[in-house]
Amino acid sequence: MSDYILQTEKLRKEFGGLVAVRDVSLNVQRGHLHSIIGPNGAGKTTFFNLLTGNLRPTSGRLLYNGDDITRLALHRRAHIGIGRSFQITNIYPNQTVFENARLAAQAVDSDAMVIFNHIARFGSYEQKAFEAIDLVSLTGKERLLANMLSHGDQRKLELAMIVASDPKVMLLDEPTAGMATEQVPEVIEIIGILRQNRTVMIVEHNMNVVMSISDRITVMHNGAVLAEGTPQEIASNEHVQSAYLGELYGDLMEIAQNE
Ligand SMILES: Nc1ncnc2c1ncn2[C@@H]1O[C@H](COP(=O)(O)OP(=O)(O)OP(=O)(O)O)[C@@H](O)[C@H]1O
Ligand SMILES: [Mg+2]
Repeated sequence: MSDYILQTEKLRKEFGGLVAVRDVSLNVQRGHLHSIIGPNGAGKTTFFNLLTGNLRPTSGRLLYNGDDITRLALHRRAHIGIGRSFQITNIYPNQTVFENARLAAQAVDSDAMVIFNHIARFGSYEQKAFEAIDLVSLTGKERLLANMLSHGDQRKLELAMIVASDPKVMLLDEPTAGMATEQVPEVIEIIGILRQNRTVMIVEHNMNVVMSISDRITVMHNGAVLAEGTPQEIASNEHVQSAYLGELYGDLMEIAQNE
């Protein structure tokens, strides 16, 4: 089996005249935590949407475990193990915490035998939902409606939903966005647990987080890959520094030196 769980070959997405993702070729090694960073509008979310099938590429290819899945539909990709959370909170507000997690577990399990599966596996969906809720420390809040949760707890519920769906590759788009500073370490700890038995790709603006948790970092700029490497390589890459990191993330060198 290929060392790479996901590979893109010159993946490209145009919106009218705008090239949002510009021929991106990227290899994601199985078991790695691979971060995508870059300024607003760099194409990070669009790139994730191409990986999950929320968007169709204009050109290029996507491989999963060496197989071409460029044309595979969104729900089929979820079924084979590509799961994601959204930058914008994606929960069912009028359902309970537990129902949200259970529905997430059930949603990926779609095939022709769905009715039989539903009966046979109902218990396991519940089990997965409880485990996921426990993992993100929302135990005790299962019966609350999702819209009663704080923003931070809603982000944790979102993580629980992706955990309940049990993907092989987990794509997290800004999991700490909008969170109170004191909640960030808890989310980082959760991500640390999640990555133990799966591949995680993450888009994150918090450089402290990115530098401390990543195995590899890809820097995107104007839809293209500007650089790729280990956190230390990225932090010391002059091209990256001069292109934008110096001004955007002025404390980057300091963080890297403290690693
Ligand atoms: N559905 C769409 N239709 C038209 N243009 C789009 C669409 N989605 C994204 N874009 C444009 O594509 C470019 C890349 O957007 P994208 O959301 O991928 O950036 P990003 O790196 O995720 O930014 P941010 O850090 O702000 O989340 C932007 O110029 C954006 O305006
Ligand atoms: Mg984005």
